[in-house]
Amino acid sequence: MVSAPPSLLIVGGNSAIGAALARHFRVEGWQVQASTRRTDQVDDDHPFLDLAAPNMDLPAADVVILCAAVARIGDCETDPKTTRRINVDGTLAVAQHMAGQGAHIILLSSDKVFDGAKPLRNRNDSPCPACEYGRQKAAAEAGVMALGERGAVLRLSKVIEPGLDLLAGWQRDLSANTSITPFHDLYLAPVPVDLVANVVSQMAKERANGVYHCTGAVDHSYVDLAQILAASMDADPALIRPVSCLDANIPAAARPRYTTLEMSIEQQRWNITAPKFEPTCSSIIRLGPSS
Ligand SMILES: NC(=O)c1ccc[n+]([C@@H]2O[C@H](COP(=O)([O-])OP(=O)(O)OC[C@H]3O[C@@H](n4cnc5c(N)ncnc54)[C@H](OP(=O)(O)O)[C@@H]3O)[C@@H](O)[C@H]2O)c1
Repeated sequence: MVSAPPSLLIVGGNSAIGAALARHFRVEGWQVQASTRRTDQVDDDHPFLDLAAPNMDLPAADVVILCAAVARIGDCETDPKTTRRINVDGTLAVAQHMAGQGAHIILLSSDKVFDGAKPLRNRNDSPCPACEYGRQKAAAEAGVMALGERGAVLRLSKVIEPGLDLLAGWQRDLSANTSITPFHDLYLAPVPVDLVANVVSQMAKERANGVYHCTGAVDHSYVDLAQILAASMDADPALIRPVSCLDANIPAAARPRYTTLEMSIEQQRWNITAPKFEPTCSSIIRLGPSS
């Protein structure tokens, strides 16, 4: 007898990562449904779900991946009440409901549960968020971890994929011989969305519980990213004019010095290591829409 494929519910199918996960899991043979809050997109495979007022009219699933969130640090800072209702209360209501139906729950979380003062944070370090977004993610993590064997958390640093708006803009300017102004004091340790999908896939297949990490190996500045882009285009490096993010309207909590997290368990268990900066950026640039 042929057994039914495992079923997956992605909460937040319109999110950048959720959309990539849906594609990945369909290719792997999962039966995928992805929630939306856009009424014009609701159908059998896209149930309606607004985390601000969650209905529990959701399809049964073996695994649920919680992707939907207000993920902009500034939005959480300016409206903590509304964003907490979505990022913590609504998220945990869905997690508890679906776990109660027998689903395994995976929450996408962030390096922002830490304050960014130290590199390569250990998964057992106590969260020490320096912003409301990080506090909300830490609270959601605690609620998912309270599900015991049914709950897992995946903390991510900056997730990138081909077509990144920032790179496309820089690419246009450099092609037109116009200077660009990357920040020399804003850092990222990017991780490609395909690698994130691989880690989530392993977690889903094994119904792994506990806390997992997926970040780049080392933090680099946005100037380093611009230099990789300029070199890939043979553009004049003098077109790169570094500026300070202190002069831009970026909240202090959105400019941590370090975003890396240690990945020893991911390496031992799945042979997945933190990607290096240069090849990660080069591959995203190479695969970009205008290359
Ligand atoms: N991208 C990263 O670099 C990164 C890094 C660390 C952690 N994460 C986490 O990974 C997850 C996915 O991130 P992402 O960058 O892919 O997100 P994203 O592209 O910013 O999308 C967020 C999604 O959440 C949905 N959403 C917002 N409020 C909602 C509500 N009240 N009810 C239902 N859905 C709602 C939005 O729906 P609409 O599309 O309809 O507006 C949107 O599709 C988030 O939990 C984020 O915190 C992301």
